[in-house]
Amino acid sequence: MTFLFHSDAARGAIFAEAFARELPEIPFSMDPATVDPDAVRHLITWTIPNNLARYRHLEMVFSIGAGVDQFTMAALPDHVKVVRMVEDGIVRMMQEYATMAVLSLHRQIPAYRAQQANGVWRALPQPQATQRRVGVLGLGVLGQAVLERLKPFGFPLAGWSRSPRQLDGVTCHHGADGLDTLLAETDILIVLLPLTPETRGFLDASLLAKLPKGAALVHTGRGPQLDHAALLDALDSGHLSGAVIDVTDPEPLPPDHPFWSHPAILLTPHIASVTQPDSAAQAVIANLRRHRAGLDPVGLVDRRRGY
Ligand code: NAP
Ligand code: GLV
Repeated sequence: MTFLFHSDAARGAIFAEAFARELPEIPFSMDPATVDPDAVRHLITWTIPNNLARYRHLEMVFSIGAGVDQFTMAALPDHVKVVRMVEDGIVRMMQEYATMAVLSLHRQIPAYRAQQANGVWRALPQPQATQRRVGVLGLGVLGQAVLERLKPFGFPLAGWSRSPRQLDGVTCHHGADGLDTLLAETDILIVLLPLTPETRGFLDASLLAKLPKGAALVHTGRGPQLDHAALLDALDSGHLSGAVIDVTDPEPLPPDHPFWSHPAILLTPHIASVTQPDSAAQAVIANLRRHRAGLDPVGLVDRRRGY
C-alpha cells in the first residue's frame, strides 16, 4: 500500500511528516531506488516517470500541481485514476495574483510606469470599477475562486466554461456563441483554462480581435494557449492596452524575446500560484481517505477530456 513521493526533497519532507502523523498505516517513500515497486499503489509526481510500468499495482497518480497537461496520459494504464492538485494554497495564491493583475491593469500601472520612466507627472482619466468588465475563461476551481475574490471591488463579472454554469453575481456563458458574447463585453480577460488539444493556440489573433478596443489580458493558464505574435500585434496596434503574462511557451523565454521589454507587458516567471506543501499534503491525505471509503478523489481528471 505504499505512497511514492516523486518530487523535490524539501516538499517531500513536509509530506512525510504529515503522512507519519495522520496516515501512519500507509508506508511513505521518497526513494524509487529502494521502494518495493509491487507495493506502490499511489504516486505523486510532476511528470510521469519513464519506468512507470514497474509499478504494476498502481491505482492513482496525483499531479503535484493543478495542471495535468504535462502528463502523457497514454503512458498510464486505463484503470489508473489521475488526480490534479486542488488545495487551498494554490487557490489563495491565484486569487492574489489575479487581483494584483486586474487592479494593476484597472489602475493603469503599465502607463504610469512608462510615465515614471520619462519623468512625467500626469493623472490619466480613471474609469470606476463598475465600468470595467472582467471576464474569466475557465470556471473551474481557480476561475470561480478568482471571481469570488474580485466581487467586493464592484467590477461587472462574467465567465465562460465548456458546460453551462450558474454562479452568484457572475454572468455565465458557455459554448462558441457564449465565448463571442463574453469577449465582446470584457475589458480585462483572465485566462484560467487547462491546456488541452482544444485550448492549445486558443488565444489567437481572431480571439483577441473580438475583445473591445483598449481591453487587456491576464494569462495565467498555460503558455502554449497564447499566440505571442498575435498578442504583440494587438498591443502594438493599440487594440489591446496591456497584458499580465505569467505563462509562456517556452519557459523561460529566450533572452531576445520581445515580451521581456515590452512596455505594455508585465511578465512573471510562472509564479501566479504554487503548490503549498502543507496544505497539499492535507489535500492528498483527504483524497486517500476518500479513496479508501470508495469515493472519487477531489480533482479527479477525466482522462478523455484531458482535465
Ligand atoms: P478546473 O477546475 O479543471 O477548471 C477548468 C475550467 O476550464 C472548467 O470550467 C472547464 O469547463 C473549462 N474548460 C476546459 N476546457 C474548455 C474548453 N475547451 N472550452 C471552454 N471551457 C473549458 O481547473 P483549475 O483548477 O481551475 O485550473 C485551471 C488551469 O489553471 C490549470 O489547468 C492550469 O493550467 C492553470 N494554472 C496555472 C497556474 C499558474 O501558476 N500560472 C497555477 C495553477 C493552475 P467545464 O466547467 O465545463 O468543465
Ligand atoms: C502550476 O502551474 C500548476 O499547475 O499548479
